[in-house]
Amino acid sequence: MKARVDKNVCIGCQMCVQICPDVFQMNDEGIAVVLVDTINVKYENLCKEAQEMCPVMAIALFSDGEA
Ligand code: F3S
Repeated sequence: MKARVDKNVCIGCQMCVQICPDVFQMNDEGIAVVLVDTINVKYENLCKEAQEMCPVMAIALFSDGEA
């Protein structure tokens, strides 16, 4: 699984960082960025939770085969 944050949508609420800091981190502009290319399986459920909890739905999750 891979994750992407749409930087034009993220409002910097940091929910994703609190839920899964091993995958999401805030950058200097207060926007979440994805730290890893491929998400470790053990963090997949946390990433799904982060996606659901993001108030503006800025997080996209997709399987490794997708762009
Ligand atoms: Fe941004 Fe959503 Fe995370 S608003 S900081 S991507 S929870």
